[in-house]
Amino acid sequence: MTQRVVLAYSGGLDTSVAIGWIAERTGAEVIALAVDCGQGGEDLGTIRDRALACGAADAVVVDARAEFGERYCMPALLANALYMDRYPLVSALSRPLIVTHLARVAREYGASLVAHGCTGKGNDQVRFEVGLTTLEPGLRVLAPVRDSGMTRDKAIAFAEEKRLPVDVTSSSPYSIDQNLWGRSTETGHLEDIWEAPHDDVYGYTADPSLSREPDELVLSFTDGIPDAIDGVSRTPTEIITELNARAGAQGVGRLDLVEDRLVGIKSREIYEAPGAITLITAHQELENVCVERDLARFKRQAEQRWTELVYDGLWFSPLKRALDVFMAEASRYVTGDVRVRLHGGRAVVTGRRSPASLYDDKLATYDTGDEFDQALAKGFVELWGLPSKIAAVRDRRVAG
Ligand code: ARG
Repeated sequence: MTQRVVLAYSGGLDTSVAIGWIAERTGAEVIALAVDCGQGGEDLGTIRDRALACGAADAVVVDARAEFGERYCMPALLANALYMDRYPLVSALSRPLIVTHLARVAREYGASLVAHGCTGKGNDQVRFEVGLTTLEPGLRVLAPVRDSGMTRDKAIAFAEEKRLPVDVTSSSPYSIDQNLWGRSTETGHLEDIWEAPHDDVYGYTADPSLSREPDELVLSFTDGIPDAIDGVSRTPTEIITELNARAGAQGVGRLDLVEDRLVGIKSREIYEAPGAITLITAHQELENVCVERDLARFKRQAEQRWTELVYDGLWFSPLKRALDVFMAEASRYVTGDVRVRLHGGRAVVTGRRSPASLYDDKLATYDTGDEFDQALAKGFVELWGLPSKIAAVRDRRVAG
């Protein structure tokens, strides 16, 4: 029986060439799989036709926008996931979703091989391969760009020789990856980390310095998950989509970051994540109102660990799974509304209200109606400082 390979297919030059490249070198039938994670651009039918025209034995397309919003972006929101305190894990979230579909299609087609178009220098190869071996330990992986010399020049030559229906001239100087949660851009002039990003780098956001009326909105959350904008019920994917448009128009969520990749390289990346940054900003503030102090302090450590696991390709690991349970439990009372003002590149919280609020104005007030017993503070402060005080006395005594 002919062997089958399922290829993670984007519709671009590299993976279009990879179809014929893999077929020629392995004699296997290539099944192309394209997954829509909200990246926009060409429709799935066009991508499917191109895969077939490039020689795929079959092509599968999946509209995974709702799944991506609910099962990948929402857990990242509960974890306020910001790698190196800034990057909202855009690409790192879509890879495990694509991996689940690769494994499923491989099962359905009886394929023993799976292929991706990643290079050997990035994180995405790790996310694909570690995810795949975790879900389907029997699958083998082909990475033609990394392992069989499919360089850019050779890909272009191959496409021209075989007259593949891909545009080899329109290729942008940038390497771009985008989805519902955001957009990342690297290479080209960005490799000079002193050079400011040119305007043509940006695709999800307007220039924040252009003046424009501020946009104010109210986001509602239930157990940490957003479920309405301005009082109108919406799914997570709808909310992210609307915020990408509204916050993107105000230039919210642009980042310019030199980041530590898992493979040890430092790389410069421009990110745009208007919806993600707006949601995380609002969600963190609602947590400030609803989450008890020690839980909140511990959660911040757990969030960082969750984020690093996901960045490092360990979405399907036991620790990540256990931390998801923790995040869900910690989110139990994160219910209420947050008012956010979008303007000049920033999402600023201007109001919050919650039926599960821990904020008590009778304790916080400096005006009449104060119910906080200040007399209790005196003894508390004394005992709180006692261990340090005793140690300081000892230090002086022993030091002589
Ligand atoms: N550095 C980011 C990450 O590892 C984004 C990589 C996406 N690829 C790209 N061509 N920009 O998650």
